[in-house]
Amino acid sequence: MTYAAIKGWGKCLPPAILSNDDLATFLETNDEWITSRTGMKERRISHVDVSQLAYVACEKALAAAGKDAKDVDLIVFGSTTFDELCPNAASNVQQLLGASNAACMDVNTACTSGMYSLTTATAMIKSGVVKSALVIGAEVISPIMDWNNRDVAVLFGDGAAALYIEASDESEGVLSESLGCFGESRDILAVQGWGMKYANKSRVLGDSTWAFLGQEIFKKAVAGMAQGCMKTLEKLNFTAQDIDLVVPHQANLRIIDSLAKKLSLNKDDVFINIQRYGNMSAATALVAFVEAIEEGRVSPNSHVLIPAFGGGLTWSAHIIKFGDRTSPKNQSNVELPPCSLSGLELVQNIIKSKKSDNL
Ligand SMILES: CC(C)(COP(=O)(O)OP(=O)(O)OC[C@H]1O[C@@H](n2cnc3c(N)ncnc32)[C@H](O)[C@@H]1OP(=O)(O)O)[C@@H](O)C(=O)NCCC(=O)NCCS
Repeated sequence: MTYAAIKGWGKCLPPAILSNDDLATFLETNDEWITSRTGMKERRISHVDVSQLAYVACEKALAAAGKDAKDVDLIVFGSTTFDELCPNAASNVQQLLGASNAACMDVNTACTSGMYSLTTATAMIKSGVVKSALVIGAEVISPIMDWNNRDVAVLFGDGAAALYIEASDESEGVLSESLGCFGESRDILAVQGWGMKYANKSRVLGDSTWAFLGQEIFKKAVAGMAQGCMKTLEKLNFTAQDIDLVVPHQANLRIIDSLAKKLSLNKDDVFINIQRYGNMSAATALVAFVEAIEEGRVSPNSHVLIPAFGGGLTWSAHIIKFGDRTSPKNQSNVELPPCSLSGLELVQNIIKSKKSDNL
């Protein structure tokens, strides 16, 4: 049997930080409310587009695997904030990397996009369609955010991560997964104004209305991730005790705590980085996974469980068996262009440009 082993990993977080106190300078909110309700302290705001973040993350993943861009057969780009719909974003990454042998596709399942991309690429390797793939979860939400809406503006940030996976005879990579969607609840997490339905309806691009029913999403998130985890464990005849580390989608610390309680997880076995980045949608789970590897939380040959959920309402859960190498083969020195503005200045510029568009 062929597996799809994870051989390389990388992330790219834009340098500009937007703190809770920064948000409180233009929204009726405060650090205490955001910290106690969500666990978030700060998030990143990107000065470049999402393909650029993805490209840097891919360079790092290739270096960690000791591979050249020409070795890549497939690029799957998971996101909700593609720079353009045609041509797709994966082809932009192919061009930036010089990965001229790669097929290129975009996947959008909102916050679960990185994980659905991992399933897509893994399945294509297991079935023999390709031998290797770069899997991307990346998001630049800040330009489309409704910065006047405190219900959502405090929750999100920008970032990217990538995995390099390749065919292997060893039992590694994604061993089991469950995917699903609560389509009947799709309207409780919606961004109106973002998509072709709104074209030629005198709406400025980026002038979006974020229609989120926070408490309803909260309940569905816990239910979807718990259901996904149970199904995924059952497929391997595992219990939660067989899992070495849980790396959940990071949308709210209280959602993660509720999930941990429901599955009787030991808190020390749950990886948390929400305080640093907030929710980066498609990038969240993969950035957390990459950081868990970098911080030595993923042991050789260990089992990692990654539950996620997002708009749709899509949900997923993956059990990954890591290989025996948890340190990168090489380091890439590719970096983002420098950013001279603070996170707050970048956001102020977005707010100003939206106002002038609407004049
Ligand atoms: C959004 C969320 C943090 C709100 O937490 P909550 O405990 O449910 O808070 P509530 O909705 O009860 O709001 C409590 C109060 O805080 C207010 N509030 C909302 N955002 C606020 C902010 N940023 N700062 C201060 N007060 C805020 C509300 O207006 C409400 O005021 P009221 O009691 O006077 O009506 C939480 O529901 C959540 O994380 N939901 C899921 C988020 C999500 O959709 N993530 C993306 C999915 S991938």
